[in-house]
Amino acid sequence: MPVITEIEDLRRIYKRRVPKMFYDYCESGSWSEQTFRENLSDFEQIYLRQRVAIDMTGRSTASQMIGQDVAMPVALAPVGMTGMQHADGEIHAARAAGKFGVPYCLSTMSICSIEDVAENTDAPFWLQVYTMKDDDYTQRLFDRARAAKCSAAVITVDLQMLGQRHKDIKNGLSAPPKLTAKSIADMSWRVPWGLEMLRTKRRFFGNIVGHAKGVGDASSLSDWTHHNFDQGLNWDRIREFRRMWDGPLIIKGIMDPRDALEACNVGADAIVVSNHGGRQLDGALSSIRALGPIMDAVGDRIEVHLDSGVRSGQDVLKALAMGAKGCWIGRAYVYGLGAMGERGVSEALRVIHKELDVSMGLCGRTDVRALDRDILMIPRGFSGDWED
Ligand SMILES: Cc1cc2nc3c(=O)[nH]c(=O)nc-3n(C[C@H](O)[C@H](O)[C@H](O)COP(=O)(O)O)c2cc1C
Repeated sequence: MPVITEIEDLRRIYKRRVPKMFYDYCESGSWSEQTFRENLSDFEQIYLRQRVAIDMTGRSTASQMIGQDVAMPVALAPVGMTGMQHADGEIHAARAAGKFGVPYCLSTMSICSIEDVAENTDAPFWLQVYTMKDDDYTQRLFDRARAAKCSAAVITVDLQMLGQRHKDIKNGLSAPPKLTAKSIADMSWRVPWGLEMLRTKRRFFGNIVGHAKGVGDASSLSDWTHHNFDQGLNWDRIREFRRMWDGPLIIKGIMDPRDALEACNVGADAIVVSNHGGRQLDGALSSIRALGPIMDAVGDRIEVHLDSGVRSGQDVLKALAMGAKGCWIGRAYVYGLGAMGERGVSEALRVIHKELDVSMGLCGRTDVRALDRDILMIPRGFSGDWED
């Protein structure tokens, strides 16, 4: 077992182990990747205020996210095609999250189905749903989530149409991979990955193929997806989705205070300040820059979470100190999963937990639920002083 001390260690192993097509799918942003890059670099603009001679014993990272107890306020974000990063990847990630005591959110675009994950894990998980035109399909998704005892639904609102990632087009990304000379060459020397993939039966989009009308195989899937993302989405439609699901609801993909207020009005329990990890609108602000004005606008009206660019416990600490109640991680756990399956996800969580705990203590704080901006030094104008 290699020694893992930081998330970057996992990324390096992941890159060697998984076919380039799937590594690129994860490790890229849309168009010029400006937002993808700034999601990370903007965290570095914020400094932590070191304090000394303050009793730092008895620290706790335990908290709650949407009323659910968590060992630390960090959730695993929905990531499509996780089951291509590692065979049965969604099950491995959900198990690691359950054992650690943090929430796992399954993507609609997952390889393992809702039922697969429910049957193979103990802890309740969250289900992420895209805003599709096909209401029957969406209603069935919510019904299946209810039957699987999912403890929350997440509606992703920032994907009315797809941002373009150049590498995916050039790599001919698909699940399962199309067999071309290039993809065969790519996969042939990732032997452990390939053997595990051959052993599993889960290689298609398990929540769609066989569930959506007219989608019986992978070839009809891309047509269905293309026609079903709802470019006409509006807040009334989101209210309809709210009515389809009576459990806790989270709206993911909010970057503007006005949209955050709309989310309060539709009766969501929480929002995620997120630019989809820089995969949608290239040129959008980083999430950490967007957080402050959103917190100021919504106050205590709704629970606010943040994702995009979180790679360390220090990042989590900064977001929490700015007012977020929790962070979600995407790539940070996918690196672990691709590197070493469930154990790698556990390692990613262990690394982030340790960084959060130690950094919090060195800032003179002992309770993750009682952080505030006083531990931060935020550059003037960080959230922007923009022309009207
Ligand atoms: C490979 C990949 C696939 C993703 N698929 C989905 C998805 O199916 N649904 C969704 O709501 N978000 C999806 N996201 C966005 C994540 O939920 C999350 O917002 C993002 O990864 C956070 O940024 P980070 O990766 O820098 O932590 C995906 C992200 C990645 C990297």
